[in-house]
Amino acid sequence: MELPNNPLAEGLDATRKAPPGVLVVFGASGDLTHRKLLPAIAQLSRRRLLSPTFAVVGVARTELTDDGFRELMMDAVPDAAPSWSDVVKQSRYVVGDYVDAGTFKKLASVLQEVENDLGATGNRTFYLATVPAVFEEVATGLGGVGLNRPAAPDTAVRLVIEKPFGRDLESARQLDSALHRVFSEDQIYRIDHYLGKETVQNVLALRFANAIFEPLWNRSYLDHVQITVAESLGVEGRGGFYETAGALRDIVQNHVMQVLSLTLMEPPGSIDAQGIRDEKVKALRSVLIPTLDYVKTNVVRAQYDSGWSEGIAVPAYRQERDVDPKSETETFVAMKLEVDNWRWAGVPIYIRTGKRLPKRLTEVALQFKAVPHLAFGRAETRDLRPNALVLRIQPDEGVALRFGAKVPGQAFTVRDVLMDMSYGTAFLEDPPEAYERLLLDAMVGDPTLFIRSDEVDQAWKIVDPILKAWQERAVPLAGYAAGTWGPRQAGDLMERDGPQWRTP
Ligand code: BG6
Repeated sequence: MELPNNPLAEGLDATRKAPPGVLVVFGASGDLTHRKLLPAIAQLSRRRLLSPTFAVVGVARTELTDDGFRELMMDAVPDAAPSWSDVVKQSRYVVGDYVDAGTFKKLASVLQEVENDLGATGNRTFYLATVPAVFEEVATGLGGVGLNRPAAPDTAVRLVIEKPFGRDLESARQLDSALHRVFSEDQIYRIDHYLGKETVQNVLALRFANAIFEPLWNRSYLDHVQITVAESLGVEGRGGFYETAGALRDIVQNHVMQVLSLTLMEPPGSIDAQGIRDEKVKALRSVLIPTLDYVKTNVVRAQYDSGWSEGIAVPAYRQERDVDPKSETETFVAMKLEVDNWRWAGVPIYIRTGKRLPKRLTEVALQFKAVPHLAFGRAETRDLRPNALVLRIQPDEGVALRFGAKVPGQAFTVRDVLMDMSYGTAFLEDPPEAYERLLLDAMVGDPTLFIRSDEVDQAWKIVDPILKAWQERAVPLAGYAAGTWGPRQAGDLMERDGPQWRTP
């Protein structure tokens, strides 16, 4: 249903609209385009956040005509508003190989035609929804025909790329220099879809728009921090990809590092791209780079065995399609990180992520120190734990504070209670999907929620020594039954310090 004027911008500022322009999607016949990008563009058009002067140009190797691509666009958005048909009608398709200069010449002339037809000014956003192996080819191809430069004064050309940004520190740097040969840093928008999540952005609001949390957000009050990114799904037919990635590259290097930097950072001077990204990278620079010995004792890697997921028997990772039966790829990582700065010294950060865990859940839990002296009787405080502030990133998005309260009655029994804010009940607005938010930001030219080159580099500096240690087989691969919270070693990693993993 087409909505009348404004309320459409539920969750997105209605005055913030994409300027006239064209979105060029490489990998246009692929899965990411179908599942995420086209629905997100359709949703932006439904909310009237796109200019009427807007078209998509798809590029891919798959043979398709313009009409074939238009059909694909309609199929991807079954319940689209009428405005989607207008976008679809204006859209075009270019078939070709990314190593072939001819593909880019053809693209340049199609872009010209589309812009002439629409009367568009020349703003161009190139979205690389391709495998990472061709990022460099596409960027070079674009540069070869001058598509990296603005076509007219006061127009912008931007390149959007998706993680993974490299396979390790060295390849990430190579990719960065290849991109920088063609595009300047301020033209490059590196997506981590976690930054598009409302609850991830809420870490900033919670910390820097309230007087009550930030004063406690440091070593004087916190015992430790736990970050969990748990998935109940397995590799879902993506075994081929996952074999080349593993949990460390797939989740820790990007999503976890982003959530971590927002949790650790100092208050920025202003909530803008430079203010936030400067502080995020500074925070990551304070994380101690693990040495080989550190990795041996503070990082656990594991792979799931067969087991049960939500009541259904599921196979072991090694039995999944396109997975080597002797695969050593980790589907679970747990680690302790240390942060060497004034705010965080001595507060361990425990991280765990894995596939085939009991439930899908991402959260940041700040565990406070115990009170210095409990004047109540031991029996009366048996069910009292130190305070905790839990930021539930997904699902059931919200924030919960655990504290002790007196149980009604004659005895002075104190036990844990929860003060729980849930997005679902606190707000009427529908949050925009992560891709919707990020696509609009890229077209508007707001890089705040995109990862800067120095952030990627710093995240790799933390993760790279772990990869190297694993390559040297310095850390054995543990196992865990599907549907459990990971291997025993992950529990040991934390319990030897005192605390335990939360079992949400
Ligand atoms: C992707 C990973 O980046 O994030 C996937 O490649 C993972 O393996 C996904 O399943 C998780 O995203 P979300 O938004 O479901 O937490």
